Amino acid sequence: MTPRPVRRSLLALPLGMALAGRQAAAQALFTPASAPDRPLAEIAAGRGLVYGCAVTGNLLSQEPEFAALVAQEAALLVPEYEGKFASLQPEEGRFDFSGLDAVLNWAQHFRKAVRGHALVWQEALPDWARAALGEGPHRARGVLEAHMDRVLSTTRARIREWDVVNEPIANPPGSDVPEPPGNSGDLRATPWLRALGPDYVAIAFQAARQRDPTLRLALNDYGVEADTPWAEEKRQRLLRLLRGLRARNVPIDAVGIQAHLQLREAFRPEQFRDFVRQIRALDLQVLITELDMREPKPPQGDYVARDTAVALRVHAFLSAAIEGGVRTVLTWGISDRWTWLNREPAVALDNDTHRGLPYDWELKRKQMWRAMARAFLGQPVG
Ligand code: XIL
Repeated sequence: MTPRPVRRSLLALPLGMALAGRQAAAQALFTPASAPDRPLAEIAAGRGLVYGCAVTGNLLSQEPEFAALVAQEAALLVPEYEGKFASLQPEEGRFDFSGLDAVLNWAQHFRKAVRGHALVWQEALPDWARAALGEGPHRARGVLEAHMDRVLSTTRARIREWDVVNEPIANPPGSDVPEPPGNSGDLRATPWLRALGPDYVAIAFQAARQRDPTLRLALNDYGVEADTPWAEEKRQRLLRLLRGLRARNVPIDAVGIQAHLQLREAFRPEQFRDFVRQIRALDLQVLITELDMREPKPPQGDYVARDTAVALRVHAFLSAAIEGGVRTVLTWGISDRWTWLNREPAVALDNDTHRGLPYDWELKRKQMWRAMARAFLGQPVG
């Protein structure tokens, strides 16, 4: 089970990419000397913070270099697919914990905590569940309760925090991805909303709390980080939802901010820090749950310039988050070699990878890694 040490191989990398990275390395802003040579989780822990990342069972078992990096760097894991509805209950009443178990067993062996993701979401819903949710509120409630009954009891000993509702907030007008019609105020039109009405969020949290009174219950969403009118509107929608839940004593403990950041969007640290504080003022914890960075298409400049831009933004973002009261930070993956950003057709770069994770394609620490370390340490850019 012990992963092999990370092999620093250039073989898997297109030659041009490797050379571009090497030629200009001396000009990096976050140099190797700018951060201690210790695992990120250890650096974070020294400041009372937790660092973790998304993993898949397949990568942990089939890519020893990935497993070695995660074993070394992360204290907390989140399964990228294995906790989603379609993975756990592909057919009604037939639960399959094999994928999740593989992640949990690995985590246990390496003494990593695991957070669960995600119980109620409009994606990763199998066809049978989508159809069942269309059969009226009674049926929908039955689907939700049966799923939670089985999932929360099975994972109880090993997962102590779940994203109970993922991505409930409707995107304001002007989104890249068109919104389906039928929003209910601030809430996105999803099969759950259509079946149960706007109360579905409260229903989900109450159902989770009933089944496990000490489980930490989180609501997770994206698009609330940038200094744009669109993100500002989404922040206000999220705050309204949270205030409403609080006013009704709905059991919720934490808010996950996904932080799939985009370099082309403006960012204002004080604004984001204050947003985190506004959530915390509702007596909710705030986590950064899925950090990565999309570069503009096509990316600007050579690899050093790109890495510097990414690192500067990540440093500003995490410093603001931590100042606002965030104590847990997860990246969505750990290396540019295995990131969903390269798999999503609308996002992937032509013949190139995004450089939005702490390790590059060759599994070397990038400026982003050092920017994270410095933000964890409370140190300025450098
Ligand atoms: C993504 C995975 O990374 C992809 O591989 C998959 O195809 C779709 O889901 N927000 C979330 C995550 O909450 O579950 C998503 O994960 C990324 C966006």
